[in-house]
Amino acid sequence: MKRVFSGVQPTGDVTIGNYLGAIKRFVELQDTTEAFFSIVNMHAWTIPQEPDVLKQKTLSLAALYLAVGLDPDKTTIFVQSDVPEHSELAWYLQCMTYIGELGRMTQFKEKGEGKETVSVGLYTYPALMAADILLYQTELVPVGDDQKQHLELTRDLAERFNKRFGEAFKVPEPLISEFGARIMGLDDPTKKMSKSAPSPYNRITLADTPDEIRSKIMKSVTDTENEIRYDPERKPGISNLLTIFSLFSGETVDQLVARLQGKGYGTLKKELVEVVVGHLQPIQERHRQILESGELASVLRQGGERARQEAAKTLQAVKEKMGLMV
Ligand code: TYM
Repeated sequence: MKRVFSGVQPTGDVTIGNYLGAIKRFVELQDTTEAFFSIVNMHAWTIPQEPDVLKQKTLSLAALYLAVGLDPDKTTIFVQSDVPEHSELAWYLQCMTYIGELGRMTQFKEKGEGKETVSVGLYTYPALMAADILLYQTELVPVGDDQKQHLELTRDLAERFNKRFGEAFKVPEPLISEFGARIMGLDDPTKKMSKSAPSPYNRITLADTPDEIRSKIMKSVTDTENEIRYDPERKPGISNLLTIFSLFSGETVDQLVARLQGKGYGTLKKELVEVVVGHLQPIQERHRQILESGELASVLRQGGERARQEAAKTLQAVKEKMGLMV
């Protein structure tokens, strides 16, 4: 079975972009791969956090992993900071990463833009992400399109290390789906949907009520025509709604376009509201139950122990190769 690793930051509320681009696909992979899914709370600290809020968001995201259908008997679910090997390997990798490489990362540029001060952690973030992945001898990394550049750096670092010190890491492949890897903002379909965009009308979160979902979809930006057609270049708004519709309903875009022909944007939006609400409500219900049940503590403890066992093996080999075991 192939090894899989992925992570989501417990910051903001998880959006349907995170869900369709990554988390939903974790569930699809759990039966056919050996997977590690982390709540990457150390990454969250690359920008300022409120400790209480971070803690609550970390548990909420862990509960969401379970609520969408991840099964702790099939996959390892853990909190990044429970496995200190991540930060240790990140340090060694940072020493092999060039300043120019980190400076070229578009996420760093975007997240740092306009800020008075930017932490060193935001800059070195991709080395921590590489450590996350390489510690588990990962072969496949399911992510959205925005993580592609970080994955390329991870591959470069693995190759660089293996070449200099001998084989220590598998060189991982990104697993980015052709469709849905870049869900766009509802208020501006030329930019990706994001947890941190200033307007709540940018995104639907997995915590949104039916009324919020309705209002966000009905107000979503489309175009001045009234023809339902999939054309991301010329009709980014409608194409984004069709993508979301298809991923939630299982109907293909072609089927949707044929079925909704001549019906107008209002009908498309109304049907989409029903589909999204219908999909998210049971997840929200399970999410509530899981948080109330107290079952998370043991899932995360066991996940952390299992992850540590694996991570420690890789770290030991790395330290031996680097002359750090004296
Ligand atoms: P994060 O927390 O920003 O996002 C989690 C996942 O959601 C995907 N995603 C999207 N997919 C489609 N459309 C969108 N609009 C959209 N927005 C976000 C992201 O690509 C990601 O897969 N650096 C990572 C977290 C991380 C990680 C890792 C991922 C840390 N270590 C190791 C994989 C492997 C991040 O900030 O994701």
